[in-house]
Amino acid sequence: MNERTLIIGKGFVGSYLEKKLKESNIETYTTGFNTKENVDFRLDIRNEESITDCINKIKPNYIINCSANVNIDFLEKNPDIAFSINSEGAKNIAKISKKYNTRLIHVSTDAVFDGERGSYVEEDLTNPINVYGKSKVLGENFVKENSDDYVIVRTNIFGIDNHGRDFISNIVKNLKNQKQMIGFDDILFTPLEISNLSEMITELAITDFCGIIHLSSNTSISKFQFIRDVAEIFELDGTLVKKGTSEEIEFVAKRPKNLTLSNNKAKKILKTPIIPIKESLEKLRREILI
Ligand SMILES: NC(=O)c1ccc[n+]([C@@H]2O[C@H](COP(=O)([O-])OP(=O)(O)OC[C@H]3O[C@@H](n4cnc5c(N)ncnc54)[C@H](OP(=O)(O)O)[C@@H]3O)[C@@H](O)[C@H]2O)c1
Repeated sequence: MNERTLIIGKGFVGSYLEKKLKESNIETYTTGFNTKENVDFRLDIRNEESITDCINKIKPNYIINCSANVNIDFLEKNPDIAFSINSEGAKNIAKISKKYNTRLIHVSTDAVFDGERGSYVEEDLTNPINVYGKSKVLGENFVKENSDDYVIVRTNIFGIDNHGRDFISNIVKNLKNQKQMIGFDDILFTPLEISNLSEMITELAITDFCGIIHLSSNTSISKFQFIRDVAEIFELDGTLVKKGTSEEIEFVAKRPKNLTLSNNKAKKILKTPIIPIKESLEKLRREILI
């Protein structure tokens, strides 16, 4: 990819993607909404004019939409915000990318499924059980309807963000402070380390693939086992991690149980190796120590 790329939403995913693209010497621009981070443009995806303005200035060949509101419990109580950002916002970006003949990579989620079965393939019917998932499904549908050259990436991720608000930093903080943690044994997922995901998205952009693709790890893992693996690799006390189930907690938004994704399609299309979860955790640990 040696052309201009615009990342809409320099959040957790967007900032890793920016790093990866810039490391590959790709001319990359980012946008923010409320962030204090350094971004090239500020825009609100609910406002078509502000997106058009940005596209006119940058004239990107690729748009990667990493913008969303991902606060699951907040969105459950504020569905209007969920649908205006995650659905209508995605529609605005899709319409404008078509108008400007720009390839669109739209980042979505495993939460489009109900979690009853797992090992979901791209063709499986979506059936979200919370507002976040519903807003993301509608966003996907708008992308399909409004863009001719698009990729919808469904994924789940782990990594370390700039602010220490991510799952791994939380686990490390708690265990370092000798705090007990409950790990849900009934919630399964197939997360990819965020720089591995960024590399796959970078490769995907230059293919001629159009449609939905699942980018996920090769093996499924429970939240309990994931926390235990973090404890082991970060050399913390894993006995502080107790097995529990999500049924014991009253979340505002329902949590789907088995959101594992099949990555068979991705393995056929992409050359980027999928790094095993434990290997990625070891890499993160080394990076933190540097
Ligand atoms: N995090 C996960 O575990 C996870 C898992 C699966 C899938 N995903 C998907 O990955 C994508 C990125 O998620 P993330 O974790 O990177 O989220 P994030 O860190 O919360 O970043 C979201 C980005 O969207 C921007 N944004 C929010 N509202 C906006 C608006 N109205 N107009 C313009 N920009 C707006 C934010 O801008 P400001 O920060 O400037 O306000 C931020 O840059 C989402 O599509 C999400 O569904 C995430």
